[in-house]
Amino acid sequence: VTLADILPTLAVSLADKVPAHLWPDTTTQDDDLHVAGVRLASVAATFGTPVTVLDETTVRARCRAFRTALPEAEVTYAGKALSCRAVLRWIAEEGLSLDVCSAGELAVARSVNFPASRILVHGNAKTPDDLKAALAYGDVRIVVDSLDEIDHLAALARTRQRVLVRVTPGVDAHTHRAITTGTDDQKFGFSLATGAASEAVRRVLSHPNLELTGLHCHIGSQVRRVASFELAARRMVDLIAGLRRDHGVTIHELDLGGGFAVPYLPEDDPFDLTGYATRLRVALHYECQSHGVPVPKLIIEPGRSIVATAGVTVYRVVTVKRGPTTFVAVDGGLSDNPRPSLYGARYSVRLIGRTSPARRTPMTVVGRHCEAGDVVATDVPLPADIHAGDLLAVPCTGAYHHSLASNYNQVCRPPLIGLHNGTSTVLVRGETEEDLLRRDVG
Ligand code: LLP
Repeated sequence: VTLADILPTLAVSLADKVPAHLWPDTTTQDDDLHVAGVRLASVAATFGTPVTVLDETTVRARCRAFRTALPEAEVTYAGKALSCRAVLRWIAEEGLSLDVCSAGELAVARSVNFPASRILVHGNAKTPDDLKAALAYGDVRIVVDSLDEIDHLAALARTRQRVLVRVTPGVDAHTHRAITTGTDDQKFGFSLATGAASEAVRRVLSHPNLELTGLHCHIGSQVRRVASFELAARRMVDLIAGLRRDHGVTIHELDLGGGFAVPYLPEDDPFDLTGYATRLRVALHYECQSHGVPVPKLIIEPGRSIVATAGVTVYRVVTVKRGPTTFVAVDGGLSDNPRPSLYGARYSVRLIGRTSPARRTPMTVVGRHCEAGDVVATDVPLPADIHAGDLLAVPCTGAYHHSLASNYNQVCRPPLIGLHNGTSTVLVRGETEEDLLRRDVG
């Protein structure tokens, strides 16, 4: 018998409390959720729903955590997780570098004068426009991903261009297939096992206007095991030693990518960043020493782990259908969060804006789109008296939500609201039907 069994009201309030580590750092919970001192029900009233809020303090704290854990590394934010001017300004101020992978992401960087020397340009199929935008930006580094790209870049570059070669080290990161990128036989980079990586290095060296500064790998996303990163580091150092032996080149930068797992559910553990830093440092130094090569500068590229937990999305319940499964339909879904349908991603949810004495029962929160797979969260405990008009808050929506959003069913994308020190600021305004029609010129 627990205290919650004796005091049913306590059971109710406990059930409503999604664990603190899933919410932004500044969150306090009562009958509502307060982030950075701002009540989320009032954000919903002011800006409408769905709405995504982003806690500046949490973003900055994650940047500092990476820089503190790995002071010797160049911490490079992967902008694909969430690219908007405010976030790029915050991460620039926190001393991070930036990974971009399109002319569009470069345009956002340019709009806030992000320093060129701290930009890495990625992409398995960079278009001529992407490459031209990268060269026009200034002294960026380009992570080359195909032989075509190497030749094309060499033909375009007017000054000596710094490049890294992207390698697939044959490491299975044990994550969802759609976000596994370090194994052989796939579209990213050059395989280490087949010798394609060494061939790519030879090709770079054959162009006098390309300067090989480093090697890169990214084994996947939502990677939980530090051992996968260690294995990748060891294989990459092996390659570095081989290149030094065969071509006399010294690799100065080793970029091990991002992919640090983030907790989405109460039972998910946070990623052990300190353990990662310690084990990686040991692996890198040991391998370099035993191969007799200098220790390269380490680059890491966290995306999700910088912004995911800083974001919360608030939806309004449109209708509730009770049957064998209770479906709680909200005013967003697939268009603002395709992750459940793309990766089977699971989320936590809580009621905000009122308390309810009703029993908690498992329900499925679904979106408003014309797809049976349009699910927000499966089997989440919500009060039995949930009804149209209620507000639901979903944590961990800062990464790959805004950036993956679409206009499916001509639904307007929600606003992104920055919260800091008791104030809310529109970072990206909500889309309007006029926005949708502006492009539709036929
Ligand atoms: N570096 C490279 C080269 C990448 O391709 C990625 C992510 C990252 C760094 C950052 O990985 P992160 O630390 O954010 O896991 N849309 C998927 C995730 C796709 C990740 C693509 N690449 C999702 O929502 O789970």
